[in-house]
Amino acid sequence: MSAVPEPEQQRLDALLVEKRLFPPTAEFSARANAHDPGIYARADADPEGFWAEMAEGLRWMRPYERVLEWDPPHARWFLGGRLNVADNCLDRHCEGPRRNKAAIIWEGEAGDTRTLTYQQLRDDVARCANVLRSLGVARGDRVAIYMGMVPETVVAMLACTRIGAAHTVVFGGFSADALRERIRDAGCKLLITQDGAWRRGRVVPLKASARDALQGVPGVARTLVLRRVGDRAEPVTIPGEVDWHEAMTGASPLCPCEPMDAEDMLYILYTSGTTGKPKGIVHTTAGYLLGASLTHRLVFDLKEDDVYWCAADIGWVTGHSYIVYGPLANGATVLMYEGTPDFPERDRHWRIIDRHGVNIYYTAPTTIRTFMRWGADLPARADLGTLRVLGSVGEPINPEAWMWYHEHVGRGRCPVVDTWWQTETGAIMIAPLPGLVATKPGSATRPLPGVAAEVLDEGGQPVGPGGGGNLVLTRPWPSMMRTIFGDDDRYVRQYWSRYPGRYLTGDGAKRDEDGYFWLLGRVDDVMNVSGHRLSTYEIESALVDHPRVAESAVIGRHDDLKGQAVAAFVTLKESSEALSGEALKSELRAHVAQKIGPIARPDEVYFTAELPKTRSGKIMRRLLRDIAEGRALGDTTTLADPAVVQHLKEQYEESEGA
Ligand code: PRX
Repeated sequence: MSAVPEPEQQRLDALLVEKRLFPPTAEFSARANAHDPGIYARADADPEGFWAEMAEGLRWMRPYERVLEWDPPHARWFLGGRLNVADNCLDRHCEGPRRNKAAIIWEGEAGDTRTLTYQQLRDDVARCANVLRSLGVARGDRVAIYMGMVPETVVAMLACTRIGAAHTVVFGGFSADALRERIRDAGCKLLITQDGAWRRGRVVPLKASARDALQGVPGVARTLVLRRVGDRAEPVTIPGEVDWHEAMTGASPLCPCEPMDAEDMLYILYTSGTTGKPKGIVHTTAGYLLGASLTHRLVFDLKEDDVYWCAADIGWVTGHSYIVYGPLANGATVLMYEGTPDFPERDRHWRIIDRHGVNIYYTAPTTIRTFMRWGADLPARADLGTLRVLGSVGEPINPEAWMWYHEHVGRGRCPVVDTWWQTETGAIMIAPLPGLVATKPGSATRPLPGVAAEVLDEGGQPVGPGGGGNLVLTRPWPSMMRTIFGDDDRYVRQYWSRYPGRYLTGDGAKRDEDGYFWLLGRVDDVMNVSGHRLSTYEIESALVDHPRVAESAVIGRHDDLKGQAVAAFVTLKESSEALSGEALKSELRAHVAQKIGPIARPDEVYFTAELPKTRSGKIMRRLLRDIAEGRALGDTTTLADPAVVQHLKEQYEESEGA
């Protein structure tokens, strides 16, 4: 099934053929922040010189001595330099004309709004920093943040950076178990949470999950709790809890920014890898801030009066780099929305854009495809006249969705910037500079100035035009991850050993005859479900944790709306009686949701007597993918027992037909 009705599809196909290249308009280019095409060659000729020049845009407390120390695969940027991220994001703006400019325009799910100027945000951050100090948090400590899309989440993050503590934000859709695992791994001293978060008019019980997560975690003596939903949350008590509002009321708004080393840790953000254990991606201070702010200014062509909206959740890297650090370092006005796009109606995003005069809008392909399904008449009823630039992130955007976005949201007038990057890269790596690069629907175009990417074959040779291969980055960049928290070996192994000296992204890509990059999705056992990164192994571990499951294999199968859907093949420990038990299937899905979070809940569970394995015992996920996507089976000669997969295929087709 396609996300778009057939006639619409044909119309878009025709458009794609007619107009494959979208060059910037002369008017846009003339005003663009990046308007000199020489920027690419200049950065290529002298990358360190380029980054040094760009780093002049940051406010330093002490100048750095050296741009880069590259001891592959370990990089240190801006050695000896001192600065503070909160100072860059807040204080320096408060010393000039941005002082009373809106930093955050926030809209709650119920329609309530709040605006925080740079000065107000700075004061709140300083107060919160003092609260953190009073709760025993010091420079070098780690703080877990488990909150929703409220301004206080930004305050909490910046308060940590102000005093030199690293935060680890855990997405509110993760379960208590997932939160506990991250708090433990990062060795957090404090947890900041809220009673509950609004989602589609219902309360997500964050505090109850936080309480459960803290069982058996003695290191977290205090929990700071924001009241957001009040009486609507179930009453929960956490030992040692402190009320956010009460603590903030008594706190002083004076709190100097800690001078941090350029290479001090800024935050840890956990992401899924190819094992059951999430990786704590470590970002440091100066390089990360430079990457996030520069790309935000250039890729979105930010202007002083813009209202900028990134619709991602703050619990993902997109929220870190493009709701908080990039935009605030640039002194932008950030729109932040608490809820879902379909609450109370499916036109919520268009209403928000019109209500607040949004100029730049950044969202994920899965959301765009959902909008397509809801119909073009919804954006058509809105004005959307303020929009100037549209962004896409999180997964490959199919050309149909790109065109729909361009036509129905951008009204043919706004450049669409498809931005490829990862938690690990910290900032956008491959994307058009909208005043300089002609876009092609479905392509992230070319690496940004200073970034070097290649598509390599298995032997490490660059693949020619049209061929597919592994996407690698061939040069260090300032916002690159520095390590995996507590597991540097894994960092070296996972990212730098496949092609020594080159960073393995885990994504497949191809280049066309113009050198443009087309992303093909993950080539490892990482799935991308609605722009959320999930590990097959993590879900498999959650399934085998259930007492009735003997073994499981999880794959991401193509899904028109979500990009990928989670399909789980499960063998049970006991007799075959329960083999078709719908109740057990629901139980297993719920079990995964409880272990990891609702985002990881399998879309489908299939029971099978056996899983297809090679003679050495390795599960052949490729074949399961063939089955789940209804393809002819690929090569089965390495299977220990080819009959297993044939049987599985028949079973699958039966259950699909049923
Ligand atoms: O597969 C790529 C996909 O998302 C992965 C990174 O996921 P995560 O670390 O959660 O960060 C998501 C937000 C940056 C990548 O390895 N991805 C992200 N953006 C794109 C993309 N795939 C294709 N095109 C994109 N624009």
